[in-house]
Amino acid sequence: MSNRFILSLDQGTTSSRSILFNHIGQIIASSQKEYTQHYPKPGWVEHDPIEIWNTQFETAKEVLAQVENDNATIEAIGITNQRETVVVWDRATGKPIYNAIVWQDRRTSKYCDELKAGKWAETIQYKTGLVIDSYFSGTKLRWILNQVDGAMEKAQKGELAFGTVDSWLIWNLTGGKLHVTDVTNASRTMLYNIRTLSWDEELLNLMGIPASVLPSVKSSSEVYGYSNGELASKPIPIAGIAGDQQAATFGQMCLDVGSVKNTYGTGCFMLCNTGQEVIESKNNMVSTIAWQINGETTYALEGSIFTAGSIVQWLRDELGIIRSSAEVEDLARKVEDNGEVYLVPALTGLGAPYWDQYARGAIIGLTRGSNASHIARAALESIAFQTYDVLKAMEADIGHPIKELRVDGGAVVNNLLMQFQADVLGVPVYRPTILETTALGAAYLAGLAVGFWKDVDEIKKQWAVDECFQKELNPDRVEKLLAGWEKAISRAMKWEEE
Ligand code: G3P
Repeated sequence: MSNRFILSLDQGTTSSRSILFNHIGQIIASSQKEYTQHYPKPGWVEHDPIEIWNTQFETAKEVLAQVENDNATIEAIGITNQRETVVVWDRATGKPIYNAIVWQDRRTSKYCDELKAGKWAETIQYKTGLVIDSYFSGTKLRWILNQVDGAMEKAQKGELAFGTVDSWLIWNLTGGKLHVTDVTNASRTMLYNIRTLSWDEELLNLMGIPASVLPSVKSSSEVYGYSNGELASKPIPIAGIAGDQQAATFGQMCLDVGSVKNTYGTGCFMLCNTGQEVIESKNNMVSTIAWQINGETTYALEGSIFTAGSIVQWLRDELGIIRSSAEVEDLARKVEDNGEVYLVPALTGLGAPYWDQYARGAIIGLTRGSNASHIARAALESIAFQTYDVLKAMEADIGHPIKELRVDGGAVVNNLLMQFQADVLGVPVYRPTILETTALGAAYLAGLAVGFWKDVDEIKKQWAVDECFQKELNPDRVEKLLAGWEKAISRAMKWEEE
């Protein structure tokens, strides 16, 4: 087993990464490349699909080169990706007809309002598990087809392909042979029926989407096809696909009903395994497909927070109060508390549980003595407060308290944030030894499909705790902090509409 690896491609919102895992789930090689974010107008966020592919391909080549002399075999490729982001390309040329419209993009908010006014909320929630919001892919796809010159006509003739980023990567990896996605990515489109497990004709008609643009939907763990000669001389089976949050849930081994993970990436995404049952949220969570393996579909409830780690990038790139993201912890530690300063990171509206497309970011509670450290602290605390709001809504949906939280993603190395998270939630927060759980989850899904791992029991044992954070702060203090947060967030909501 020692020279046999799984290659995981993790295409995230701000960077493309490739990681090689060995049989005991250790990282053998990794490579990461950041790529350009485009903000053509306020509320719009785009990526160049070619840059997505190039950075992903380069990182994959780099990790393969690192093991080239070791007589290594790559047993399979697992793919995980930023979800909901939409790419439309020409089937004949393989060229995108427009930039990728990113999950954070709000340009279809008004159309979403129309759908809500047209009383579609209930049907859409029942069929897709989702709330109507510009976050999801369907309305973005509709925008491209309606706004790009000649696109609808070409789509109707079957000349265009739509995909979330997983589809786009696989199309390129196979030299245009495969146009597929998996159930987890499909479940984020607002066009896929998570109960019948098929594209929903009524919703396609509603949004005017020709079925010919859609990829075929596969399970999360099976051999879909093989990489072509560009990546490696020998074809490698592409054998796992999952949206990044679902992959992280799998990588965190949240296999039991009721187990919960929270990933602190660009955004923050909490998923609770609900087993074979779709739980219809009454508290603004979404129902989603966690994975489908060997014909069995597992569902989850999800609370999607749009801005988490990216608020730290904003402190670095836009506000300039830190030079690197890692500096935020030291800056925040220079003050004992937030000095009653709150930051509402509604930079791309607010997701769960508020779902306010028109909220705008705010820093509130400033006094003459407030300084950069208070703002840094408030930024970190805002991640924990949003997580608190989601966890409470999730508890209300599942009908019992959540007893522990497994955490992963870039920001969990921040001990101040993790301690504060445990303080605010009042439950133990477990940080595992492998923080690349997203990539690991995709590797597991691919490895299971090719027999690299025998079954889930074999990989379950690999999950291990690095640190457990327990609450320390006194409950009165927590209550006061939460009251301040609630006040702050109410000021940031519906801002653009006023
Ligand atoms: O739903 C959006 C999510 O998939 C993005 O994840 O890790 O790129 O912040 P990430």
